[in-house]
Amino acid sequence: MTSLNWSSKSKSIPQGGKLQTDAILYPFEGEDASQHLENRLILGDNLRVMNALLPEYEGKINLIYADPPFFTNKGYSARVGRGEDSRKPENWQLAEGYHDEWSDMGSYLDMLYPRLTLMHKLLSPSGSLYLHLDWHANSYARLLLDEIFGYDNLRNEIIWTYHGPSPIRSAFNRKHDMILFYSKSNQYTFNVDQVRIPYSENTVVTFKSSKKAGFGKTPDLERGKVPEDWWYFPVVARLHNERTGYPTQKPESLMERIIVASSNRGDLVADFFSGAGTTAAVASRLNRQFISSDTQPRALQTARSRLVLDIQENKKGKSAGFEHGFSVMIQKEESVELPPFLSFEELEIKPPEVSDGVVTLPPDLISQVDYWEMDPDWDGEIFHSSFQAARPWRKGDIPASTVIPEKNGEICLRFVLISGDQIQHVL
Ligand SMILES: C[S@@+](CC[C@H](N)C(=O)[O-])C[C@H]1O[C@@H](n2cnc3c(N)ncnc32)[C@H](O)[C@@H]1O
Repeated sequence: MTSLNWSSKSKSIPQGGKLQTDAILYPFEGEDASQHLENRLILGDNLRVMNALLPEYEGKINLIYADPPFFTNKGYSARVGRGEDSRKPENWQLAEGYHDEWSDMGSYLDMLYPRLTLMHKLLSPSGSLYLHLDWHANSYARLLLDEIFGYDNLRNEIIWTYHGPSPIRSAFNRKHDMILFYSKSNQYTFNVDQVRIPYSENTVVTFKSSKKAGFGKTPDLERGKVPEDWWYFPVVARLHNERTGYPTQKPESLMERIIVASSNRGDLVADFFSGAGTTAAVASRLNRQFISSDTQPRALQTARSRLVLDIQENKKGKSAGFEHGFSVMIQKEESVELPPFLSFEELEIKPPEVSDGVVTLPPDLISQVDYWEMDPDWDGEIFHSSFQAARPWRKGDIPASTVIPEKNGEICLRFVLISGDQIQHVL
């Protein structure tokens, strides 16, 4: 068989990986979180995370979307300010996002190969993988996937096209990514009728005026057509309402097409390079369960805020879906250092005030907080979050107070500041 080789290629998968629950979120009052414990946001290197999931999930995940670093040899910053002028990058408030820097292609492939192998193991027999890359490494990854999944299981090489500015003057403007879609077997989920799109106006006019167009085949104009393997969706930079500030965030419309096509309601969808949590957000809106992991605390924090904000929007009746609600389980992994919890004294910030059973954050604190939550019965180990507040991405304020439930034990509050610092405070 033809395959790709490089000097450090190894077929053995580095072992190790243990997950530990850090927090469980109950975003819906009275909701039994145990129904939704499949839904997880995990902080950790996905090699260890996937190894740790294998005993329980081997052959069980219905769909995996993977959007790894692309081998661009760049670092990406997160935009953490709110309401800044997009045309004035010099004024943006930035923080560390993630790194995509490698000594050479071999070291990049050393990262990718064992992870793709683990994804193949985790997929159910009717499951699919969508691997999102661009010109930098796509052709190398395709050879790896041919080896792991089998050449015959390549279903599509999807081209995602978009517009955007570029300084390039020595070649054509590079404005497409490739998404390699492989299934684990030839019996795979593909909901063709759910992804149909309308025919173009020209096609409709042509077929309405001449029945002979199309060499005797008349399309079902009402039913719509199966999308081509090239897709246009605007990039998130242009979609202000979706933008979280986390770098290289993908559009929800792109994820929606993939999830609708290759999974069913109740299925388990995983994204082990989660970033801003786009897959988790869209999967839960479409009533799928999700597992989502990333090495970067800011990615996990962004995904958590995004899910919380989505649910709260839904409660107000503003967005569809989330029929069953869900809980989020955050797990920490042995080898990953969670940013330490600091105290108000260390940060020289005034702590929250409590009066008449209400916790209120003073103005100085609220101006610095991106997210906060409460466990009204803190056991000192797992944070059972019964109240969450997240700062909206564009406009609007983060809630500054909450009522303490009547029956409670020790009350613990956790905060994430815009700077990324975390505070844990027991009242
Ligand atoms: C291209 S971004 C993903 C963007 C995401 N699709 C979205 O819509 O926001 C790649 C992500 O992979 C994460 N990552 C890189 N190496 C990883 C690893 N070994 N384990 C887990 N996550 C990793 C990075 O921290 C980064 O957030």
